Amino acid sequence: MKPHASLPSPFHIVDLEPTQSERIEAVAAMLVDEFKEHHPKGWPTLADAREEVQEAFGPGRVHRVAVSSEGAVLGFIGAIPTYHGRLWELHPLVVAAALQGQGVGSALVRDLERLGQEQGIIAITLGTDDEDNQTSLGGCDLYPDVLAHLQSIRNLNRHPYEFYQKLGYALIGAIPDANGAGRPDILMAKRLR
Ligand SMILES: CC(C)(COP(=O)(O)OP(=O)(O)OC[C@H]1O[C@@H](n2cnc3c(N)ncnc32)[C@H](O)[C@@H]1OP(=O)(O)O)[C@@H](O)C(=O)NCCC(=O)NCCS
Repeated sequence: MKPHASLPSPFHIVDLEPTQSERIEAVAAMLVDEFKEHHPKGWPTLADAREEVQEAFGPGRVHRVAVSSEGAVLGFIGAIPTYHGRLWELHPLVVAAALQGQGVGSALVRDLERLGQEQGIIAITLGTDDEDNQTSLGGCDLYPDVLAHLQSIRNLNRHPYEFYQKLGYALIGAIPDANGAGRPDILMAKRLR
């Protein structure tokens, strides 16, 4: 079990700026720590994670942080414009381990949706990998009826697809073997307007 800390209240969500090196470092450390258990190939090193954060400052991309009133970084969310800017792909999303389960992740997603609505974005899509048999799709040959597997998906070990379902995201597909045999990517989306 991860040790839980109580959420510094209130927190707010703002743009992460390219000049905020301390916040960037905090986000990079969070990406390494939070993805190493189930996504070891995600960002194995701080250098990989720093590169990811720098990419989040690219053209049209969204990069938001949840911060406490003392300025501590609690979580990070990014989005990438896709389909000629009509949709956004949510990527990445992370909340500090000790503060998970207290609404920061939901707040970051809702903030992204609000921004998307303001900018006329039609829908937010995302891919949430199952690299570690966290769902009933892991470790299986999903062919030929990939959608039957998806329809009967079960959450075996706190895979985040259920977090997104609670926020109104629909399962829209799966890419078998996206991360190697039996390690699919699970695709989800939510219409904004
Ligand atoms: C997934 C993650 C962003 C969720 O953020 P969070 O702040 O812990 O989530 P919230 O507190 O807003 O949770 C909202 C609801 O989703 C549920 N939930 C959160 N994570 C969940 C999970 N992994 N599996 C199932 N349900 C989950 C919560 O229990 C809560 O349910 P409730 O409204 O019935 O109480 C966070 O756990 C995290 O950073 N995980 C590691 C990185 C990761 O997996 N990122 C997503 C990759 S696609």
